[in-house]
Amino acid sequence: MVHVLTSLPAADSRKGKTQTETKKLMATVIGNISSVIPPIRFGNLSRGLVKTHTPIFKRNLAVDVRAASSSTALVETKPTEPILVENEGSSSQKKKNILACPVCYDPLSTRGDPGLSIESISGSSLLCGTCMKTYFGNDTHLDLTAASGAKNYGESMPASTELFRAPLVSFLYERGWRQSFSILGGFPGPEKEFELTKNFLKPVLGGNIVDASCGSGLFSRLFAKSGLFSLVVALDYSENMLKQCYEFIKQEENFPKENIILVRADISRLPFVSHSIDAVHAGAAIHCWPSPSAAVAEISRVLRPGGVFVATTYLLDGPFAFVPFLRTIRQNIRQISGSQIFLSERELEDLCRACGLIDCKCTRNGAFVMISATKPS
Ligand SMILES: C[S@@+](CC[C@H](N)C(=O)[O-])C[C@H]1O[C@@H](n2cnc3c(N)ncnc32)[C@H](O)[C@@H]1O
Repeated sequence: MVHVLTSLPAADSRKGKTQTETKKLMATVIGNISSVIPPIRFGNLSRGLVKTHTPIFKRNLAVDVRAASSSTALVETKPTEPILVENEGSSSQKKKNILACPVCYDPLSTRGDPGLSIESISGSSLLCGTCMKTYFGNDTHLDLTAASGAKNYGESMPASTELFRAPLVSFLYERGWRQSFSILGGFPGPEKEFELTKNFLKPVLGGNIVDASCGSGLFSRLFAKSGLFSLVVALDYSENMLKQCYEFIKQEENFPKENIILVRADISRLPFVSHSIDAVHAGAAIHCWPSPSAAVAEISRVLRPGGVFVATTYLLDGPFAFVPFLRTIRQNIRQISGSQIFLSERELEDLCRACGLIDCKCTRNGAFVMISATKPS
């Protein structure tokens, strides 16, 4: 394998002067404020506000994770039996070459073996030997969008994607925005969502995980700290969400930085080698994707046989099912905002099956739904 690792000029000079002065000023102000305002503690808030309606949330699903040795982790899910997670192979095998060119999907190469970690991608460059295109890492993340490096081409995504690129939204996301999902959408709160997610991910613990559309990394950070995965890829289209994720990681003492990388990519063009990923998680994101079917098809392509996809969103069913012209209203909302509102569990399952995933399971809490599906072995 050919490996190329070079130092880069400052990230700003590559990007060109596309940002307006106003945006720059806003980003600076927010950057300064964000260093003094911590994210809101979700745990306390969710315990106070969320009423749970399904028995599954009433059970104590607390999971204790203990490292049994360097290659095993013991997961105790109360009140059931402990689960022994076997990590196969050496640590370099676990961190196999998963990154691919978003243009041709051939593997990207780096010089030497810097491994994949936040520190190693900073200022690095990765080469696609087929397209002869180089992708760069800046101070916070690796840009693996197909258009990265374009000098004159500018692209505007639907509103549901562009909204999250704003510095203010990225700043506010874990400081109140995400908590509103519990009040408005029945989301049980990050702690419970994390426990439920881990239950669905049991078959792939010890492998790598992509936290797709990670936002400011709420779940990516939990995955990394849990020690249950060999590598966590925090992936989002928003540069500012990724910057915020990096700030949170930097602020946290003893954060395991060697197990996580931050990648900018479009969900419909995932920069991973086919069949190289053990798990994909997508929290509160499917409804924001420009094309859920293109995205789930991509997820299906990158998952290895037996790999697991877990996602959360909300459903407008129950009493909403009786709203006249709901499908037409949905169509109009989609055309304006780019958001896809799902109307039933069946619709979500159908989407997964149409994209080659099987064994769909849903867990509900009011409008909130968590769906898991598996890539056939
Ligand atoms: C509501 S946030 C969810 C954040 C986080 N996963 C959570 O559970 O709170 C939706 C995220 O989807 C991302 N997103 C929207 N369109 C995307 C696209 N085309 N590709 C990748 N991410 C996208 C946004 O940038 C945003 O961070």
